[in-house]
Amino acid sequence: MEPRDLEGKNVLLGVTGCIAAYKALEVVSRLRKRGGSVSVAMTESATRFVAPLSFRTISDSPVYLDMFAEPNRWNVEHIALAEWADLMVVAPATGNIMAKAANGIADDYLSTLLLAFPGPKLLAPAMNTHMWQNPATRRNTRQLIEDGYGIVEPEVGRLASGAVGPGRFPDPATVVDEISSFAHSDDTLAGTTVLITAGPTREYFDPVRFLSNPSTGKMGYALARAVRERGARTILVSGPVELTPPRGVEFIPVVSAEEMRRVCLDHWCEVDILMMSAAVADARPVHYMQDKGKKDADALLGDVIPTPDILRELGAQKGDRLIVGFAAETDREAAAENARKKLRAKGADLIALNFVGGDESAFGSEENRIVLISQSSEEELPRAHKIQVARALVNRVVRTLRGAES
Ligand code: C5P
Repeated sequence: MEPRDLEGKNVLLGVTGCIAAYKALEVVSRLRKRGGSVSVAMTESATRFVAPLSFRTISDSPVYLDMFAEPNRWNVEHIALAEWADLMVVAPATGNIMAKAANGIADDYLSTLLLAFPGPKLLAPAMNTHMWQNPATRRNTRQLIEDGYGIVEPEVGRLASGAVGPGRFPDPATVVDEISSFAHSDDTLAGTTVLITAGPTREYFDPVRFLSNPSTGKMGYALARAVRERGARTILVSGPVELTPPRGVEFIPVVSAEEMRRVCLDHWCEVDILMMSAAVADARPVHYMQDKGKKDADALLGDVIPTPDILRELGAQKGDRLIVGFAAETDREAAAENARKKLRAKGADLIALNFVGGDESAFGSEENRIVLISQSSEEELPRAHKIQVARALVNRVVRTLRGAES
């Protein structure tokens, strides 16, 4: 399920002529599922790869192609279109459109729109590796960044020519995540380092078996994206999960609670904000068996001891950092009271309380409902997709930092 996080946003999507143009159809579809309105402008060469009718149908809007055609909607159509848009994206962007945009050339509909649009602009380049690495494209990319353009770095992978190298258009889902992050970005946390822990830990008792829990890391990864969007240096320390870390974060994979603890302590002096969303396993086996144990329950597991309480240990050396802990509760009655106790015991400023077990379990779900508990307040964030919950939580952190809330 897609988050409805582009509701009310008008996205002007430029499509240029390369083989990845067909992937832009899925970009349009996903933008619309996320609540965005999309208008598409295509270059002449893009229309050789994909028919404008496909974009018209999937965007449910006219497609803009020719500066001198009869206008679809308005008199000075390209100016009105530039005023309508909240953000402009070119995906895929060829070396040619990058060269034009870097030099202010406006010789067709799309390049004229880029010149006429004063708002945020994002390019997702896709081209052959030699074209991407050509000094002219390098120079144009630097110029575009200096001019304020966002760039979605192409991936390294197999290109249409069969060669392998940088230049590949990313998966449309990734491009749309980047478009959404771009639409939500600002610099409120610039200069701040945020450490986020995510996922479960695994406490192995032999080479193939471990104690753990069903955390998927989705909430922590969403938090990493949400703080990165606000300009923070973001360190994501994650137990084993199936997710790809958001772009632009420093990613440190770990397995056990002890490893997670070590990494957190190693970075502690750099950290301004800690968000401890990991579902750290509570216990670990005392003994590790080098060979796979036999199926006798007692002999198999042996004795267990508690894992280190990372949050409590870091909370005890808090300094002026802001700390957000998480609590996963099954008992809804006692949850708020337990969370407040946890807040005091662990030296946190906020506890994000989620419910696990039952129909609304936070574990594995795309959605979550969180109650934010501080020493003096209790705020329920509406149930929503985890990226939206993460952004709301980061907003609360920003307000707390500014002293607007405690
Ligand atoms: O102690 P409890 O599991 O109830 O508290 C949950 C919070 O403490 C979470 O923020 C979790 O990441 C953190 N925690 C920890 N080390 C543990 C267990 C939990 O840091 N061993």
